[in-house]
Amino acid sequence: MALFGARTPLDLLRDYRKRLVTTVSPDDQMVLRFDDAAMARIGEKSWQDQYFRVGEAALRAIVRAMILAEKTELASILDLPCGHGRVLRMLRAAFPAARIAACDLDRGGVEFCARTFGAVPVHSEIEPAAIPLAEPFDLVWCGSLLTHLDARRYAAFVDWFIDRLAPEGLLVFTNHGRWSLDYHRTYPYIDEDRFQAIAAEVAEHGFGYRDYPHQPEYGISIALPSWVMRLVERRRDATLLGYHERGWGHHQDVVVVWKKPIDVPPGLDRPRPAIYRGHHEKFAPGAVTG
Ligand SMILES: C[S@@+](CC[C@H](N)C(=O)[O-])C[C@H]1O[C@@H](n2cnc3c(N)ncnc32)[C@H](O)[C@@H]1O
Repeated sequence: MALFGARTPLDLLRDYRKRLVTTVSPDDQMVLRFDDAAMARIGEKSWQDQYFRVGEAALRAIVRAMILAEKTELASILDLPCGHGRVLRMLRAAFPAARIAACDLDRGGVEFCARTFGAVPVHSEIEPAAIPLAEPFDLVWCGSLLTHLDARRYAAFVDWFIDRLAPEGLLVFTNHGRWSLDYHRTYPYIDEDRFQAIAAEVAEHGFGYRDYPHQPEYGISIALPSWVMRLVERRRDATLLGYHERGWGHHQDVVVVWKKPIDVPPGLDRPRPAIYRGHHEKFAPGAVTG
């Protein structure tokens, strides 16, 4: 019997291109505006090649998360931060019927995503607690936001995202991990003094952060997998499903969190075939009723 029925999450990677909207906003900050020499140094052919490849790499990470959770459909999706839709366009093409909320501080980006990809526009706030969103989502995708935040706001966003998940919903977020300590040498994230300060904090605490010059509370963070794991471990209402180093296009790490309590014996949170009941009675005495 096929685990996923006729259509598997992997089919999404083949099918999405038929529906992909390729209009790119002139204001999109994720378009690489480098000269040829700089492009060659980072091994890129063209901005279009890089832009769409990174977008698809996010979809691949999400499909891998769906496979881990044995999910075939996503009816509601939050993309925060959506920017000008580098990834949101992929989500729209892969999940044409989904309700997709596009959320960012960049109002132009939010409006572009609403207009171009039929997303629900949501204007964000600096602090997650102030973001006007209460409804639950089957998927929260957060690409390249926590990579710019200090430890306090990083943790606040992870908690807020988990709180926004529907039961068995997926949070997929990205992190500057071990590879970022090397990647900076080819494509500097920030000036060298600040980078050295970040690297020293990572060596001591597993997490380092500095503001960009003249941008208070927005900069570059790098976190070791063990630091991120400790953050997720605080949440007993969630299960850590995956940590994939360099899982977003061989660059940022991808973390997958499932909104499923860690302490529920298998089968107790969903209708169970009677055949398994003996197992539960044996391993979780008193926990099985009905
Ligand atoms: C590096 S870009 C990534 C954009 C998009 N995820 C992508 O991959 O194309 C970071 C984005 O985070 C947004 N941002 C920063 N702080 C935010 C916040 N508190 N809420 C929502 N978006 C935020 C910025 O406006 C910017 O669009």
